[in-house]
Amino acid sequence: MKKVLVTSALPYANGSIHIGHLVEYIQTDIFVRFLRLTGRDVIYICADDAHGAPIEINAAKQGLTPEQLIAKYYQEHQKDFQAFHISFDEFYTTHSPENRKYADLFFAKLKEKGLISTKEVAGLFDEEAGRFLPDRYVKGECPKCHAKDQYGDVCEQCGATYTPKELINPYSVISGKQPVRKKSLHYFFKLSAFSEQLKVWLTENKSLQQEIIHYVLKWIEQGLEDWDISRDGPYFGFPIPGETNKFYYVWLDAPIGYISATQHYCDQEKKNIDDYWKNGEIIHFIGKDIIYFHFLFWPAMLMAAGFALPQTIVVHGFLTVNKEKMSKSRGTFMTARTFLEQFHPETLRFYYAANLSNKMEDINLDLADFQERINNELLANIANFAYRVLSFTNANFQSKLGAEIDHAFLKEAACDKIDQHYQSCNFREAVKEILRISTLGNKYFQDKEPWRLVKTKKKEAQKVLTTCVNLVKNLCIILKPILPEYAGKLEQQLNLNDLSWKDLSTELKDHTINKAEIIIRKIEQEGREQQEKAQADPFAQLNIKVAKVIAVQAHPRADKLYIMQIDLGAEQRQIVSGLREHYTEKELQGRLICVLSNLEKAKLRGEESNGMLLAAEKDGKVVLLEPKGKPGEQVTVEGVKPTANSITISAFAKIPMETRHKRIYYQGKALHTASGEVMVEIADGAKVS
Ligand code: 2FM
Ligand code: ZN
Repeated sequence: MKKVLVTSALPYANGSIHIGHLVEYIQTDIFVRFLRLTGRDVIYICADDAHGAPIEINAAKQGLTPEQLIAKYYQEHQKDFQAFHISFDEFYTTHSPENRKYADLFFAKLKEKGLISTKEVAGLFDEEAGRFLPDRYVKGECPKCHAKDQYGDVCEQCGATYTPKELINPYSVISGKQPVRKKSLHYFFKLSAFSEQLKVWLTENKSLQQEIIHYVLKWIEQGLEDWDISRDGPYFGFPIPGETNKFYYVWLDAPIGYISATQHYCDQEKKNIDDYWKNGEIIHFIGKDIIYFHFLFWPAMLMAAGFALPQTIVVHGFLTVNKEKMSKSRGTFMTARTFLEQFHPETLRFYYAANLSNKMEDINLDLADFQERINNELLANIANFAYRVLSFTNANFQSKLGAEIDHAFLKEAACDKIDQHYQSCNFREAVKEILRISTLGNKYFQDKEPWRLVKTKKKEAQKVLTTCVNLVKNLCIILKPILPEYAGKLEQQLNLNDLSWKDLSTELKDHTINKAEIIIRKIEQEGREQQEKAQADPFAQLNIKVAKVIAVQAHPRADKLYIMQIDLGAEQRQIVSGLREHYTEKELQGRLICVLSNLEKAKLRGEESNGMLLAAEKDGKVVLLEPKGKPGEQVTVEGVKPTANSITISAFAKIPMETRHKRIYYQGKALHTASGEVMVEIADGAKVS
């Protein structure tokens, strides 16, 4: 049997993992866990996608180096994935020595085979920022409908697509200046040379999803264009050998990251990479937005450089929330962390599994449906059955099973269809089957009435329970891919360990179980509604905290600014504030202030500012807000729960706060901490900023 390598698409090291991302990682993880349980030799490989212009630009905006920015997200991503039990064998980064080596190797191979050419390309150049602008960093008037402030590639008003050069009155998002057209030499990969080979691979490979093959073949028919694989500096990426200011385009070295992360894994584990990338079975999981890269560019690169091609590429659809695209303004955008603040991670795994098929359909998260399925299916049907059976055995048979089993019933509740569903990534069907089995279990328990039997025919009652415990054992196994934490605890209560797929056919007799305990709890209606409301309020985007000023110092390069060190309870930070004309250093020292703690980091005249203090302003007078309480205490308004996501200054500006009777109001509700209302010595109608 070949060794199996499974990958999920590499997340950009440029933002938090959200519940949309998690569709794919949960999907892949369920599949991998299933393979492991059946004894396949499988590894699950992933990495952060660490290169590209946005990473470089965002790092600069936050006063960080790109390396610092990607390191921050690397930590965060790892934590989030762990919390959702995503069981990578390797989670690496594309900004690694191994990846540089492989990127150079691919480039050299392509060059050697005459598959690389160069061509002058005109791009839009920001003279003030000294850089070429990616499409998303140019805005202007839509050439079709004349809507203002549209991106360089698509108009959000009329849906037209175009190139940034077609925009009317274009401006750079970075400097606000009008970009100029400038030529530069670019490297191209001759994709069209692989048209025939790609066609053969696509048509002969029966495990690819047919709906996708269909339109990928159409792209080939229409003729493949050469692919621009270089970008000019400043750019965060690997330099092209022999060039001084040109880099591989991020999409060149990103998929190569699959290989280099495998290399890193093999080096650590003393394994041979050829078992995967020459002779292995490779399975990629991706979203439908990156089909072109994975069905054309990537296989062509693999062909050119002599690596094995993927056996399967599983493509899933997008996540919608209440049938619409997740959106911050609708309050439906949820990071992995926000989800965890409210729900158990395995409830999301269960819900996604229950909705995922092996087709490229979008999957919808509807919070009411989510709650219903978790409470009725996972809790009332599955978990309740297991708890009932085990606790009954604890209470009536001193936790011991008998020697007799009702085989006829276990046969009726056989799990023999489930492995096909898992194998084909048809998890929705697997969940249906699991529910069918636990429904049978519940019915059996109910029909046999062991609570009656135990009084008169104890042996018979024990047979019922022994049968039911065997069914719980089976449920535990078939649930393992989806609910590893739940199943792990259940396994412990069953007094078993390392249950695997083959244990479906073993029988538990004369076995003693451990004490039953409730593992997972219902989602409360009220709690959920409140959460939803609290999260949907725009004010929830603001994470304002009480801070204490520890040190104040004049900014060496700006007469209006102070550099301040503040204590936020759990941490200390530096912020830059524009208070020099309004407060002396002495007045500030030791003072309690309100700080918008989740504002994106920025550099102000070369000094890092990690947060913003809040003040009220009217007719040129600026006065600090005065909170009560301790450093770190949350400032909020009634019924709103702040999130941990970071916020931009322009999003902050859209949330109106005003003063009245020396208090600060947001939509009629006063800002307060647990210790009381926030006060301010200023006239009514002052603006807070
Ligand atoms: O679309 C994305 O989020 C990319 N970061 C995926 C890269 S997958 C692979 F090719 F590296
Ligand atoms: Zn338009």
